[in-house]
Amino acid sequence: MSGHRPAPAHRPAPGDRTSDGPVPELFTWEFASDPYPAYAWLREHAPVHRTRLPSGVEAWLVTRYADAKQALADPRLSKNPAHHDEPAHAKGKTGIPGERKAELMTHLLNIDPPDHTRLRRLVSKAFTPRRVAEFAPRVQELADDLIGRFAATGSADLIHEFAFPLPIYAICDLLGVPREDQDDFRDWAGMMIRHGGGPRGGVARSVKKMRGYLADLIHRKRAALPPEPGPGEDLVSGLIRASDHGEHLTENEVAAMAFILLFAGFETTVNLIGNGVYALLTHPEQRTRLQTSLAAGERGLLETGVEELLRYDGPVEMATWRFATRPLTVGGQDVAAGDPVLVVLAAADRDPERFTEPDTLDLARRDSQHLGYGHGIHYCLGAPLARLEGQTALATLLTRLPDLAFAADPAELRWRGGLIMRGLRTLPVSFTPFASSTDNVASSTQK
Ligand code: HEM
Repeated sequence: MSGHRPAPAHRPAPGDRTSDGPVPELFTWEFASDPYPAYAWLREHAPVHRTRLPSGVEAWLVTRYADAKQALADPRLSKNPAHHDEPAHAKGKTGIPGERKAELMTHLLNIDPPDHTRLRRLVSKAFTPRRVAEFAPRVQELADDLIGRFAATGSADLIHEFAFPLPIYAICDLLGVPREDQDDFRDWAGMMIRHGGGPRGGVARSVKKMRGYLADLIHRKRAALPPEPGPGEDLVSGLIRASDHGEHLTENEVAAMAFILLFAGFETTVNLIGNGVYALLTHPEQRTRLQTSLAAGERGLLETGVEELLRYDGPVEMATWRFATRPLTVGGQDVAAGDPVLVVLAAADRDPERFTEPDTLDLARRDSQHLGYGHGIHYCLGAPLARLEGQTALATLLTRLPDLAFAADPAELRWRGGLIMRGLRTLPVSFTPFASSTDNVASSTQK
C-alpha cells in the first residue's frame, strides 16, 4: 500500500454536500445497478461519510479498505442494537435488527463478547471444515439436479431456478431439516428475501412459521438424540448435544443459531452465484479463460476466480450494523457514542490504495485479502461452505452449459436495492438445450 490521504477535519453535516461538492446520489435505482462510481467518489472525498439512509436513520459509511478493516475489528463498535442512540429507531421500520423483539434475532451478528465468544465456539465445534468437505458430493448432486430440471428447455432464470434453491437445500441438509420439509423452508426463505415485495405481513408470517418449525424440530431431535454422535451428525443435533453437556445453550439460542445459519448462508450464496455469473458473462475473455482451465481439469483458476468475484462484486455490499459504544475516531473522523456505522465492503474491496487496477476483473488475482467475508471476530463462519457452493455452482454451470448467454439486455437487469446485500432480481439465460440423465431435484431432496 502506498500514499496517505488527508483525513477530513470536520464532521460533515447530514445531507448530501461536503466541502468537495455534492455527494453523488446514493440508494437510487441507478445507484443499485452500479454503486461503484459513487463509492469511488466517497473513498476519495468523504471516506467516512455521514448520510441519511432511505429509512431516515443517519449512519456513517466507511469506504476505504484500511479504515474498513480497522472498523470491522474495533471492539468499541458494538453489534448490539441496544447501543443505537437514535430516536428514529424507536419508531420502527428502520431495518436495524432487534427493533422487533423477535427471539430469533439474538444471534451471532447482533451480540458482542462474551456471549458471542461462547456461541461462536459452540457452533464452530459443530460446523467444522471437515464437515463442510464431506458435504461436497451433496452440493455437486444438487447443482447437477437443478440444471437437469431446465436442461431440456434451453433457457432459465438462473436466480430462481438455480442460485436460489441450491443454498437452501444445502443448508437444510447441513442443519438436519428432513428433506420432506425443505420445500417449506424454501417458501419461507423466498418470502423473507423479497424485501417487502411479497404479500402484506408475509415476512413476519414466514419468520413466525420458521420459528415454530425450528422449536418443533429441536424437540424432535432432542427426543431422538443417540448417546454418542454418529458420523455426519447434523448441526442442530450437534448444538443440542453441546447444550445438553453443560455449555449453557438455551433452546432459544439453538433456534436463533439455526436461523442465522440459514439466513446468513442463503441470500449471500444466491448472490455469489448470480453476481458471479453476471460478471463472467460481461467479461467474455475471463469466462473463456476459466472454461479452458476447467476443461483441462485444473482447479487453480476456479479457486482464485471465486475470491476475485467476491472482491469485484460481492454479495455483501455493506457489513451488518455496528454502533459506537463511546466516542471514537474512524479514519480521522469523530464518531459519537450511539452512532450507527456501516462498513461498505464493496467500496473497500475496490480501493486503489489496496488493489492494483481495482475495477478490473482478474480471475487469476492472488492474495487479494478482500473483505467480502468480513474481518475480525464476526468473520464469516460459513466461508468454507460458501467457497464450496460458489466453486461447485460456477464450475458446473460453465461445464454443462458451455454456451451460456444472457437472454436479456444485461444493462436492463434489475438489482434488488437492499442496504446490506447486493444481488440481481432475475438472471434470464439461454443455452443449447440437452436431455439430462440426472433425476430432478425433487427426487434427491426426498430421501
Ligand atoms: C458467498 C457467501 C457468503 C458471504 C459473501 C458471506 C459474508 C459474510 C460477512 C461479510 C460476514 C460478516 C458480517 C459483519 O461483520 O457484519 C458474515 C458473517 C457470517 N456468516 Fe457469512 N457469508 C457467506 C456465506 C455464508 C454461509 C454459507 C454461512 C453458513 C451457512 C454463513 C454464515 C455466517 C455467520 C453465522 C456469520 C456471523 C459470524 C459471527 O458473527 O461471528 N455465511 N458472512
